[in-house]
Amino acid sequence: MSGFTFRDGQLTCDGAAVAAIARETGTPVYIYSAALIREAHAALDAAFAGYRHTIHFAMKANSTLAILRLLRGLGTGADANSGGEIEAALRAGFEPRQIVFTGVGKTRDELDHAVALGVKAINIESDSEADRIDALARARGVRARVALRVNPDIDANTHAHISTGQRFNKFGVPIEFAAPLLRRLAGKPGLDVVGLHVHLGSQMLDVEPLGSAAWALAVLTREVRDAGLRLEHLDLGGGLGIGYDGAAHGDPVAYAAAVLPAMRPTGLHLILEPGRFLAAPAGILVGRVADTKAYPGSPRFVILDTGMTELIRPMLYEAYHRIVAVAPREGPTEQYEIVGPLCETSDTLGHNRELGPVEVDDLVAVLDAGAYGFVMASNYNRRRMPAEVLVDEGRWRVIRKRQSYGDLFRNEE
Ligand code: LLP
Repeated sequence: MSGFTFRDGQLTCDGAAVAAIARETGTPVYIYSAALIREAHAALDAAFAGYRHTIHFAMKANSTLAILRLLRGLGTGADANSGGEIEAALRAGFEPRQIVFTGVGKTRDELDHAVALGVKAINIESDSEADRIDALARARGVRARVALRVNPDIDANTHAHISTGQRFNKFGVPIEFAAPLLRRLAGKPGLDVVGLHVHLGSQMLDVEPLGSAAWALAVLTREVRDAGLRLEHLDLGGGLGIGYDGAAHGDPVAYAAAVLPAMRPTGLHLILEPGRFLAAPAGILVGRVADTKAYPGSPRFVILDTGMTELIRPMLYEAYHRIVAVAPREGPTEQYEIVGPLCETSDTLGHNRELGPVEVDDLVAVLDAGAYGFVMASNYNRRRMPAEVLVDEGRWRVIRKRQSYGDLFRNEE
């Protein structure tokens, strides 16, 4: 039985009882299903099977080493967004040639490290960055493999905070300046322009904008083909969304149908950088009820031992995550505000949620928290980063220990 399902009135993960795990690890704890990661990967990979492609997992969604190793074992590459993510990729066993390095505002040190490693592609964000990479590569006597990130000015129809491909966004080079820049870069002795890159935004359930972005790259490819560039790949970024409300996830088959007609005439290798689609449904955040209160004229509150320090998505994007009791009690349901322990009113994981009777010490799970969950956690209020557990074939293990107080103060005077 894969994924998060109720058995005998108890939430289980790939057959393992969530309550039993949480009893041993304590809470808050992230619990991941290896089976769900494999299933999501297989679905995406199968949808694109008719075309040469590589899936580079967007590590920003989840860079816990055990998760990265699992994905590497499935044959993915990595999409790193910082020096730290490159380091995580290497520690997880990825070869430099399996890493694409993206990111607005890469520092000179980060760029130099990527040049020295010889990553598969550094995705260039601007004219100025291209010149810096060229200089760094020449200083090392090498040619850096680069791809140009274009900003196609396409609306991703998603939350403004996670939309990246419009003219007013900080990402990439506006598409009309891409061809002249590519021609200029073709003459640079420190650069090998091997690809074009686009990333429109995240949590996209409508695949049409992803198709438009693919066409934009295909048209640009045709335009610059004769400029002496040796393009190898088109990197379409990530963005496929999931059904946070329990509805269907983004459809990999529809995604492939939207982008492959644009890809085929180019003949270039396709790179995808999915993060959320692979990891989000595979993880839950489990907390314990620390307190409850219900006074006339105020909402009923369920106060958990977990909140915005472990999962900030609801507060930052008004994101909806389903919240369930790990062992639901029999009885009438009520509307609750499900809140965390932090000193912020915004520390609310769920508004107006219908739950059965809830008592102090009950376990509660926030679903679809496997992407942009742990990676966005913080130590606000001097809270310790939570533990993480991976369930694989019915067996579970701690893949990251909860921070200790020692960890919390380690780097201070
Ligand atoms: N490639 C690039 C260049 C990206 O910037 C991103 C995400 C991805 C790939 C992966 O996108 P995905 O497949 O996961 O949609 N913290 C936000 C999401 C920020 C996404 C940033 N970039 C959230 O929790 O919704």
